[in-house]
Amino acid sequence: MAFEMWSPLKSLVIKITVISVLLNEARAAPTVLYLKKMMLINERLTISGFDSGGDMASQMHVAFSKNFRGVAMFASIWYMCSPYGFMYYREKCGKGANKISNGINAARNNARNMLIDPLAGLADQKVYHWIPNRDELVDQAIRTQVKTFYEKVGVKPANIMLKYQFSYHIMPTANTADPLCRESQITKPDYPYSGVGTAYCTYYGAYEGLNYLIGNVELKKPVIGTTPAKLEPVRLFNQSVFLASADQDFLDPVGYYYIPSGCKGKPCRLHMFLHGCYLNRDRLQSQFVKRSGYLEVAELNNIIMLFPQSIYFDGNDLGCWDVFGSTGEEYAIKTGIQMTALAKMLETVTGKTFL
Ligand SMILES: *[C@@H]1O[C@H](CO)[C@@H](O)[C@H](O)[C@H]1NC(C)=O
Repeated sequence: MAFEMWSPLKSLVIKITVISVLLNEARAAPTVLYLKKMMLINERLTISGFDSGGDMASQMHVAFSKNFRGVAMFASIWYMCSPYGFMYYREKCGKGANKISNGINAARNNARNMLIDPLAGLADQKVYHWIPNRDELVDQAIRTQVKTFYEKVGVKPANIMLKYQFSYHIMPTANTADPLCRESQITKPDYPYSGVGTAYCTYYGAYEGLNYLIGNVELKKPVIGTTPAKLEPVRLFNQSVFLASADQDFLDPVGYYYIPSGCKGKPCRLHMFLHGCYLNRDRLQSQFVKRSGYLEVAELNNIIMLFPQSIYFDGNDLGCWDVFGSTGEEYAIKTGIQMTALAKMLETVTGKTFL
């Protein structure tokens, strides 16, 4: 039935439509939940990350080793390679400006001064590091020194795996549906200047890293090129509660997490994965999380995933994790602002003491 509306009515209809669209948007906005203690298999934790997230995962692993059993790093560097701010991180440390002995001594001194857990806690741990050989940001030799660092602080050489691959600086996902997949082996991907930071079809980083760390059971590997596993929704959690009120600018107010369908009423594993620079929620919403490869591995193997989110702040223009001192001098020890916040997230979910 067609009819001509007179204009005041027309404008009222438009107003009502606009209001109801806004209400729908508000209703559709995803709920931000609070992290709670979850039912977990009682074992030490694993942590991983790509780019600055891998550096931060290592920082967490070294500082809170008592609660960890291993770390997986993708295109990362050694502990405290960049204590002189973001530009040093971006341009100097990766080109050999700092000495590995400084990182080793920093870890030893921090442990001696009880600013991080005793290094003895690292003795039986596993370390995995994926190293792309076409990476302009950091020399391959510097990435390789991660092995030297961990050996010197007590990890057994046999428990350190370095995996070198023909690739640019990306998170390897083995996702054949990813259009960047094959390209990144041939053409330089836009990341870290734009793009989503994932690619490479022949190596499933999330699976390989986790499978190496967990070790005592063989994880199920998502079959590449078939319909992906049916996934649960990626949820948002409140990160502000893990920061003092004066420190709210140093993390995104919310982070992401994922609970596999098999974890209802059953103990599961827990893993924390940290995004790279410029790959945070602020820029990509959940795109990097969803393309990282972790959700599929997590769903198949009952691993609860935490994906905390960093943010842009003064001295951290790319929303990296603070592995260069922009949150303060304590950035690499237990009392570092982001370090403490990440530890509190893990304390909340596990019920164990980190701090
Ligand atoms: C996080 O929790 C605090 C404290 O309950 C609350 O004030 C804040 O609004 C929450 N943030 C979000 C994004 O829900």
